[in-house]
Amino acid sequence: MKKFNVTIIGSGYVGLVTGACLAEIGHSVTCVDNDTRKIQTLQKGHIPIYEPGLKELIAKNKKKKRIVFTNSLQNGIEDADMVFIAVNTPPLPDGEADLSYVEAVTREVAQHMKRYIIIVEKSTVPVQTGEKIKQTIRLYGRKPEDFDVASNPEFLREGTAIKDFLKPDRIVVGVESKRAEEALRALYKPIRAPLIVTDIKSAELIKHSSNSFLAMKISFINAVAQVCERVGADVTCVAKGMGYDKRIGSSFLNAGLGFGGSCFPKDLAAYIKMAERAGYHFDLLKAVQHINEQQRQWVIDHLKKALWNLKGKTIAMWGLAFKPDTDDLRNAPAIDIIRKLQSEGCQVNAYDPVAMEKTKALLPNVRYCKDPYDALSGAEAVVLATEWQVFKDIDLKKVRSLLKTPVFLDARNAFDPVQMASLGFDYTAVGRGSHKKSS
Ligand SMILES: NC(=O)c1ccc[n+]([C@@H]2O[C@H](COP(=O)([O-])OP(=O)(O)OC[C@H]3O[C@@H](n4cnc5c(N)ncnc54)[C@H](O)[C@@H]3O)[C@@H](O)[C@H]2O)c1
Repeated sequence: MKKFNVTIIGSGYVGLVTGACLAEIGHSVTCVDNDTRKIQTLQKGHIPIYEPGLKELIAKNKKKKRIVFTNSLQNGIEDADMVFIAVNTPPLPDGEADLSYVEAVTREVAQHMKRYIIIVEKSTVPVQTGEKIKQTIRLYGRKPEDFDVASNPEFLREGTAIKDFLKPDRIVVGVESKRAEEALRALYKPIRAPLIVTDIKSAELIKHSSNSFLAMKISFINAVAQVCERVGADVTCVAKGMGYDKRIGSSFLNAGLGFGGSCFPKDLAAYIKMAERAGYHFDLLKAVQHINEQQRQWVIDHLKKALWNLKGKTIAMWGLAFKPDTDDLRNAPAIDIIRKLQSEGCQVNAYDPVAMEKTKALLPNVRYCKDPYDALSGAEAVVLATEWQVFKDIDLKKVRSLLKTPVFLDARNAFDPVQMASLGFDYTAVGRGSHKKSS
C-alpha cells in the first residue's frame, strides 16, 4: 500500500476524524490548527470534542507515531504530499458561506508549499470554490504543474463519525488531473467503498445537494406530521408505510423537532444563495427551511395548549445537543426553544449527558441538573428535545411521580403513546395526536 504524508488544516470535527482515520489506515498525518489551546489539548492526549471512539483512535495512532498536532502550518506542510482543508465554513448573515477561513489557509499553503502538492477541499464549500483556490495559489507564482486542486467532500455524521469515515457509502473525489485521481485512489485504497470520480464542480455540488436532499426529507415528514396531527393519523405509521418503498427508503423519515447542527442549516442556506447567484431561485429549499423553523415553535404552541400561560412555569428540558452522541450545540433546536421559553417567562431545568458544560456559556440562566430526574423537580412539564438513550431507558413511573403536572412533550417520538397515556401522562408526540389517560 502506498503511504502518504497528509496534512489536515483545521482540527475540528472533520479534521480530527479525517486525520485519525487516515492515520488508522496507515498514512502519516499532521493535524494543524491555529487555535493554540486546541493543539495543546490534543498534544496532551485530550480531545476537544465528544465523539465516540475518537480519543482511543487518536491515542492508538499517536503511539504508532502516525499522527501529530501542530500550530504551525508552515512546518505542517513541509513534507506533505497532500493537504486537506478542513476549516469551518460558517454562514454569513445572509446565508452565504463564509469562505474567508478557506481563503486564509489557501494563501498560507501557497506561501509555504515546497514541492508538488495536492490541495484537497474537505470543508463543505459552494460550487466553484476549487477555481478560487486554484486562482489564489497561482497568484503566488505557483505554476500549474506545482499543484493540483481536488474536492473530497465529507459525509460523516457526528456521533458515528469514525464508522462513517472508515465504512462510507461512497467516497467522492473531484479532480482535474489523472495524477490527482491516482493519488486519491491510492490514499483511500484500504477503505472498501465505491469511489466516485467527477470534475471538481460536480463533487462540490454532490455535497450540497446530498445535505439539502436529506434536509428536505426531514421537512417533508415534519409537514406530513402536521397534517397527521390535524386529521388524527399517526405519522410513524405513515413513515413506515412510505419507507418500505425502495425508491423512498426509511431513513430520515422520523418526524420530530427538525434538523439542526453545524451542517444542514448552513449548507441549505449556502445552496440557496449560491443558486440565486447562478440565476436560479431554489424555492423548494426555502420551503424546507420554513418548515424546519416551524417545528421549534410547535413545542411552545403545545406547551401553551397544555399549561395555559407559560409565565412562571418551570419546564424540564431533556437534551441540549442537536442530536444524541454529540456535544455539538450549533443550531440545536433545544437552545432555540429554551430561549423562546425564557422570553415567555419560564424557568428552565436542563439535563444533557454531555452538552451541559458548553451550554452554560450560551445560556447562563438555566438550572443545570445532575440527572434527568433532578430536572423534573418543580416542573410542570418535560420536553424531550434530544433522544439520548438515557432518556429512552428512563423509569417512567418515577418521572410521573416527580412532575408537578404530568405534561410530557415528546418532540422526538421516542415513547409509546398508549403506554404513556396509561401511565397517566398528558402526552403529546409529533404528528401522533394528543394522548391523555382516560379516567
Ligand atoms: N461537523 C460535521 O458533521 C461535518 C460533516 C461534513 C462536513 N463538514 C464540513 O467540514 C468543515 C469543518 O467542519 P467542522 O465541524 O470540523 O468545523 P470546526 O469548527 O469543528 O473545526 C474547524 C477548525 O478549523 C480551525 N481553523 C480555522 N481557520 C484556521 C486556519 N486559518 N488555520 C488553521 N486552522 C483553522 C478552527 O480553529 C477549528 O478548529 C465545514 O465546512 C463543515 O461544513 C462538517
